[in-house]
Amino acid sequence: MKKSNQTRKVMIVTGVNRGIGFEVARKLAKQNISLILACRNDVEGEKAKEKIQKEAGNIQIKVMRLDLGSFSFIRNFVKEFGQSFQRLDGLINNAGIFTMDKGLTEDGLELTMGVNYFGPFLLTNLLLPFLEKSKEGRIINVISDAYKRGKFDLENIRERRQVLELMLLQNLL
Ligand SMILES: NC(=O)c1ccc[n+]([C@@H]2O[C@H](COP(=O)([O-])OP(=O)(O)OC[C@H]3O[C@@H](n4cnc5c(N)ncnc54)[C@H](OP(=O)(O)O)[C@@H]3O)[C@@H](O)[C@H]2O)c1
Repeated sequence: MKKSNQTRKVMIVTGVNRGIGFEVARKLAKQNISLILACRNDVEGEKAKEKIQKEAGNIQIKVMRLDLGSFSFIRNFVKEFGQSFQRLDGLINNAGIFTMDKGLTEDGLELTMGVNYFGPFLLTNLLLPFLEKSKEGRIINVISDAYKRGKFDLENIRERRQVLELMLLQNLL
C-alpha cells in the first residue's frame, strides 16, 4: 500500500477485532477497497485481519494500532496513515465502550466520554484533510441512543474540565 498506488478507495474502520466493527469490515473487504483495521490491540487486529482476508481474498488490508483513549496515540496514528496514504474515502468511527466503572483516559478525561466522543472527534478532525481529497469522502459515526440518558453535571469539576477540553481541542486543531 504505497502512496503512489492509490487507485482503490481507502477506508478506516475503528474497533474491528470484534462486534459490529468486525462485521462491517468483513462486508467492506469484499469490495475493491484498501481497508485499514484500526485496533487497540494489534494481536487481536491481526487475528481479525486473517479471518477477513481468508474469507474475502482481499490482500489490501492493513492493521494499524489505535487507542482512542490517548490523544498522542491518535496523533501518531494519523501521522503514520499520512506516510502511506494521500487520500481517505471513508472513516467509520465504530469503536466505543460502555462502562459504569469510573475511569480516566491517558489525558485525564472521563473514560466513556474520552473514548466515545473526544477521541473520535480528534481523529476525525485530523483526518479531514485526507477526506477532503476524496470526491466522495464519508464519515460514519456509530453511536448508541444511551446518550439520551446521560447529562453533564456542570457542578462537577471534572465534567466542567471536559467541556473546556473540547473547546481547546477545537482551537488547537
Ligand atoms: N451492540 C449493540 O447492541 C450496540 C447498540 C448501540 C450502539 N452500539 C455502538 O456500536 C459500536 C460497536 O459496538 P459493539 O457492540 O460492536 O462493541 P464491542 O463488541 O464491545 O466492540 C467494541 C470495539 O471497540 C474497541 N475499543 C474499545 N475501546 C477502545 C479504545 N480505547 N481505542 C480503540 N478501540 C477501542 C474494542 O477493542 P478491544 O477489543 O481492544 O476492547 C472493540 O473492538 C459502539 O460504538 C457502540 O456504542 C452498539
